[in-house]
Amino acid sequence: MSENSLPRTAKRLTDYTAPAFSISHVDLCFELDAEATRVTSVLQIKRNRADVPLKLDGQQLTLISIALDGQLLDTTDYQLDADSLTVFTVAQQCELTIICDIAPQHNTALEGLYMAGNTYCTQCEAEGFRRISYFPDRPDVLAEYKVTIKADAERYPYLLSNGNKVSEHIDSDGRRVVQWHDPFPKPSYLFALVAGDFDVLTDKFITQSGREVSLQLFVDKGAITKGSFALESLKRAMQWDEQRYGLEYDLDIYMVVAVDFFNMGAMENKGLNIFNSKYVLADAASATDRDYFNIESIIGHEYFHNWTGNRVTCRDWFQLSLKEGLTVFRDQEFSADMGSATLCRIDAVKLIRTAQFAEDASPMAHPIRPEQVLEMNNFYTVTVYDKGAEVIRMLQTLLGRDTFAKGLKLYLQRHDGQAATCDDFLQAMQDVAAQDLSQFRLWYSQSGTPLLTAAQRYDATRSQLILSLAQQTPPTADQAEKQPLLIPVQIELLFNTQASQRHLLLLNESEQQYLFEGITEAPVVVWLEHFSAPVKLAAQYSDDDLLLIARQATDGVARWDAMQQFWSRKIAQQVTSNASEVALPAALFKLLQHWLEQPGTDMAMTAELLTLPDFDTLAEQYQLIPVDKLLSSISRFKQLLAEQLARPLSSCYNALKTGPYQYQDNDVGLRKLRAVCLNYLAQLNDNQPLLHTHYVNSDNMTDTMAALAAAQQSKAAVFNELIADFASRWQHDALVMDKCFALVASQPGEQVFEAIDTMLTHPLFSWKNPNRVRALFSAFSLRNPQQFHRIDGKGYQLLADTVLRLDPLNPQVAARLVTPLLSWRRFDDERQQRMRAALQQIAGQSSISNDLYEKVNRSLD
Ligand code: ARG
Ligand code: ZN
Repeated sequence: MSENSLPRTAKRLTDYTAPAFSISHVDLCFELDAEATRVTSVLQIKRNRADVPLKLDGQQLTLISIALDGQLLDTTDYQLDADSLTVFTVAQQCELTIICDIAPQHNTALEGLYMAGNTYCTQCEAEGFRRISYFPDRPDVLAEYKVTIKADAERYPYLLSNGNKVSEHIDSDGRRVVQWHDPFPKPSYLFALVAGDFDVLTDKFITQSGREVSLQLFVDKGAITKGSFALESLKRAMQWDEQRYGLEYDLDIYMVVAVDFFNMGAMENKGLNIFNSKYVLADAASATDRDYFNIESIIGHEYFHNWTGNRVTCRDWFQLSLKEGLTVFRDQEFSADMGSATLCRIDAVKLIRTAQFAEDASPMAHPIRPEQVLEMNNFYTVTVYDKGAEVIRMLQTLLGRDTFAKGLKLYLQRHDGQAATCDDFLQAMQDVAAQDLSQFRLWYSQSGTPLLTAAQRYDATRSQLILSLAQQTPPTADQAEKQPLLIPVQIELLFNTQASQRHLLLLNESEQQYLFEGITEAPVVVWLEHFSAPVKLAAQYSDDDLLLIARQATDGVARWDAMQQFWSRKIAQQVTSNASEVALPAALFKLLQHWLEQPGTDMAMTAELLTLPDFDTLAEQYQLIPVDKLLSSISRFKQLLAEQLARPLSSCYNALKTGPYQYQDNDVGLRKLRAVCLNYLAQLNDNQPLLHTHYVNSDNMTDTMAALAAAQQSKAAVFNELIADFASRWQHDALVMDKCFALVASQPGEQVFEAIDTMLTHPLFSWKNPNRVRALFSAFSLRNPQQFHRIDGKGYQLLADTVLRLDPLNPQVAARLVTPLLSWRRFDDERQQRMRAALQQIAGQSSISNDLYEKVNRSLD
């Protein structure tokens, strides 16, 4: 800890106590004004415990008055602190009226009520409601809300909040006055308010029981045509949840608003989702296939929260994975059903193997149910969300799809309208499965990435196959001791002359053996098929084994994974061999050529099979990351493939043609495979004109980005020309300019520093907009390993300066940005020193946010 900072205290899961007061009803009135919005809050309070004063959370509020049962209180009746208001004497039951003022215009943290351009909007999860009014701002206090919003009638045609609209009129001052009522009791973090002028897309959905739900999507004026994909996605999500889990929507109206300033992806506020516009707006010209995919999955995610999150919410924030892990799992299953299931799974696996494994190996390591939190916003992590989803997936694998679905049903019935815990969820699963899940619970409390070691022995004389598995979880920053977990290991046995066999092995000890009788030939074992558990795998494979799996495994994920393992090994050999070049087997080239010549019907899959693992995936396979050697090996092999396969790459590329843009599976795959070919071809000097042609001929953003990315990665001379054209063509579209910023910031050459500086002066760049900041600086720190990890520390310095500049404006975004620096221990001495220096510079500032403080101090400890 740096000397001039006070220790700040974390909250612990074990300190949980039930709320001392309940609130049955909340009546809120907002008189909107950018500088001084007046918030009047009337709370119906009931005491649950004797002898405690009423303590309400509140931050950055200007208190105007408090009245208890109609009696104004004076300053001897209460105490006001920086983040709370304590009322000393409160009866068993009472009505508390609090008036305060807030300044949305100056709210750059984008938590509470803030302005996104001219639009007023809110973000209350996790602890943002306390910036709107004094309240027990914790998820286990559920109340029924009535909301009145008043604002200038002409400038604010739409005044929105949760639930159903009760009334609307214009008052004598020319203000629009709209009243809302949400019949479902909810915690404060699900409260939402929006005021603005929009284009509105409307539709309706008839639920399985025949109720009509009005759907309304609010977007910036002029953007109406870009909203239709999101709205269609919403209907698909509503239908999917009915079909898969029998879950129906419960209000008569479902609203989604797209705003341009947003810290995260989107928010599931009851009946009124608020979205980062990046995850709503799309058309062929401006959005990529990936953007379309993300929109569908996030629209689904927020919709699915209506049951897993809203109807049943979290008791406390340590339980965040209860709703997030589960809802990510649900959105993954939805995406898998809407498109290519294999591709969805590959995406999920990549994320675990990069960001999640990195988090487990970092000073911020935590279990999916964290035990200690200083700033809750720091725990909206890939561990809680995505490893959380993997844990749910393992449960489904262990119990089977049907039992799992029954368990979910029971959990939702049992806890409908309540704030629940991860244990409640597991209990419901255990009850339907009649299976003891006590060892499985460890996945919730133990952090770290288990290492699975697999081996096989075949005894021909006895026709026996003996498989052995061992598990070991290395200590993490937060936990030294680890226990054996229950790990479902799916396998496939591939034989030469007979049909393959698939099995599920349960590993629940440190080491275990599995005997298979009647096996008449030695198989190749596909371990951890479909990535059946979020673990690292060490298996004894020969090159031939891996290429065989890549050709023959039933599971597409396993085929892709075999290629990833193949390359990981070659690169590891290259990294450790001193200068001598590692040879590649002829069988490899034959296989790759075969795929290029016969890309099959699943071209996206073929594209994945042809793609080398990226830097981040490889880096997680080393304790000490050999930055330079990894980068040079990747580029050597990429170059080699391009040279050796030039002809089949070219023919494949030329053979792939689509009609006019459509976001449709087959076309998506085709564009993806074409982009992979182009990427290799760009490595070869003769192919420079191809980049230009691809760019010029493109009628959609996916192909345009493919050309730009290939030019950028191959350091082609034409990159500057293309990116300049791109920037001028899209200079007025912020979401597309984000793509431009990201391309500029992730270019591998050292001109990147100057280029970033130039972009900071672009009229659309703003330090106050998280999308802009991330487009430039996350792209730089996460997708530009060459320049971010420069040995002279210039990359680290740029990130530290950026983080410090951002922290006073938006601590959440600043704290996310600092993440790559935290893992300094995993680099060579020289880089360690420079990363530490950058962190110390941040820690040395006297008034950094809690967000930043928690992460930086954990890292420097
Ligand atoms: N619950 C939102 C989701 O769907 C995330 C909101 C988190 N926001 C925050 N500022 N921590 O995933
Ligand atoms: Zn969520």
